[in-house]
Amino acid sequence: MQSPCESHHSFFYGVPYLFYWNTTSRNPIIKVQDSYNIIRFWAHNGLLILGLLIAALNFLVQFCAPAAYGKHAPLKVTCPVEVRLSNIFAHFIPGLLIFTVMYFLSGNNLLGITNIILYSLFTVHYLFRGLLAPLMFRYSHSRLSARIPLTTFLLNTIYHCTNADFIGSVFYCKGYFYDPRFIIGALLFVIGLIINWSADIQLILLRTSRHDKDYILPRGVLFSLISCPNYFGECVEWLGWTIATWSLAGLIWWLYVVSVLGTRAIHNHNWYKDQFSSYPQRRKAIIPFIY
Ligand SMILES: NC(=O)c1ccc[n+]([C@@H]2O[C@H](COP(=O)([O-])OP(=O)(O)OC[C@H]3O[C@@H](n4cnc5c(N)ncnc54)[C@H](OP(=O)(O)O)[C@@H]3O)[C@@H](O)[C@H]2O)c1
Repeated sequence: MQSPCESHHSFFYGVPYLFYWNTTSRNPIIKVQDSYNIIRFWAHNGLLILGLLIAALNFLVQFCAPAAYGKHAPLKVTCPVEVRLSNIFAHFIPGLLIFTVMYFLSGNNLLGITNIILYSLFTVHYLFRGLLAPLMFRYSHSRLSARIPLTTFLLNTIYHCTNADFIGSVFYCKGYFYDPRFIIGALLFVIGLIINWSADIQLILLRTSRHDKDYILPRGVLFSLISCPNYFGECVEWLGWTIATWSLAGLIWWLYVVSVLGTRAIHNHNWYKDQFSSYPQRRKAIIPFIY
């Protein structure tokens, strides 16, 4: 019998798994494993459909009004919770703990080298985003409404479970390691990560201490082109993830991230223009030279 990996270079190499359920030898990215049953199929795909609907709804809601924290915080916070703990709860637990448990519990191919690399990329992002960044940020408001971390926690859990389930059980043939999708996707992820981290660190350094609450006009590197390079970097990262994993789970997560950060970038950009009369006219919101 022909091995599924023998047809690496066929046209069908990497066509999203959904279209090749119970795949044949033509598709070397193989989702089906022995324990992959119909309940799990619908749990996975049901969450993907839900995730897509949430991304669309979230775009509309956040486009009309930004989430009420930071620059857009209300004067009076209802049901306040501590900002650093809230961020760790909303990002570290789903991004690192739940993602890892799901990867190890549901994965049938979690020791594949490509799977391990993808797992590492995801968790490295969340080590910074979920733990180091909340501890290092010099927040202007020490409290935010409990509604924000609770909703974020729930939504992150939905998206991260589908991604962990996918990369824990998908079978990437050896050749996929050299595939343009893997190389380009992983490169984009790393470039996006560097942009995201360095922009976040630039923002931290704008304030002199944790007691400093002033807003300063950021300048230099990507800030000379866009108002929110940290958001731009994160969108590039997850686009890279989508390409490298070649998955619907990655695509739907990326759409959600764009719906959150793309809309908030517009509100932040308008906020900067209102607050700073000298705000550079040529600076865009999130995509250099374009938007
Ligand atoms: N994956 C997702 O769905 C998602 C969603 C949201 C955020 N994120 C990521 O999480 C990170 C933080 O997001 P965020 O929305 O909190 O970012 P942000 O608004 O850019 O703020 C980041 C930090 O920098 C401070 N800051 C921002 N602008 C400043 C200025 N002009 N002067 C002085 N300090 C300033 C903020 O203080 P304040 O306390 O005053 O705001 C905050 O402590 C980013 O890397 C973003 O990509 C991801």
